[in-house]
Amino acid sequence: MKQAIIFDLDGVIVCTDEYHYLAWKQVADSEGIYFDREINERLRGVSRIESLEIILERAAKSYTDEEKLKLADKKNIIYRESLTKLTPEDILPGVIDLLDELKNRSIKAAIGSSSKNTQFILQRIGLMNRFDSIADGNGITKSKPDPEVFLLAARLLKIDPQECAVVEDAYAGIDAAKAAGCKAIAVGSAQNYKKADYSADDISKLGIEELIS
Ligand code: BG6
Ligand code: MG
Repeated sequence: MKQAIIFDLDGVIVCTDEYHYLAWKQVADSEGIYFDREINERLRGVSRIESLEIILERAAKSYTDEEKLKLADKKNIIYRESLTKLTPEDILPGVIDLLDELKNRSIKAAIGSSSKNTQFILQRIGLMNRFDSIADGNGITKSKPDPEVFLLAARLLKIDPQECAVVEDAYAGIDAAKAAGCKAIAVGSAQNYKKADYSADDISKLGIEELIS
């Protein structure tokens, strides 16, 4: 039986993905760069600056590092503004019940997210004190599909990664979980990814036994 579940944040615990998309769309439009929801799927789980690099693949000119940082900051200002609208009602279906069930069974819960806004989001939705460890974009140098964030979450929990299951909505996140040696559970956008060990529409459809076995 697994000793801990590590949750991705965006698209697993809370539906911030639309806010990410709208903020990047505003930045891309202002630069005259084509960007749509299909391209946006490639940004799931990927760091802010790497997300920008993907968007800039379609740019007509090249950008200096300074210009890139400015665009990434601009996106984050727009995104943070939309995050102020988040409330506990934005927590995705099944999350609270699962956290309660894990607590009842003395199974640890952690966050493993590429986002540097993790703490701000958890505060907004009232879940800041529901996790035993939080590994996020501020504590890592390589974002998913690199396993660093999940290895950090497991290390903070003092639990072997092989004793952890990861819940993810990104292909890059499933790859990262497997590379870390964790069980990989896919929800949402990643649910058809063959590399996952188990999949469901969302957390409310996950059977606890499949999750922790
Ligand atoms: C991930 C999102 O959780 O966080 C990515 O799936 C995002 O789309 C990444 O780019 C970084 O987020 P932030 O909040 O640090 O810009
Ligand atoms: Mg995600």
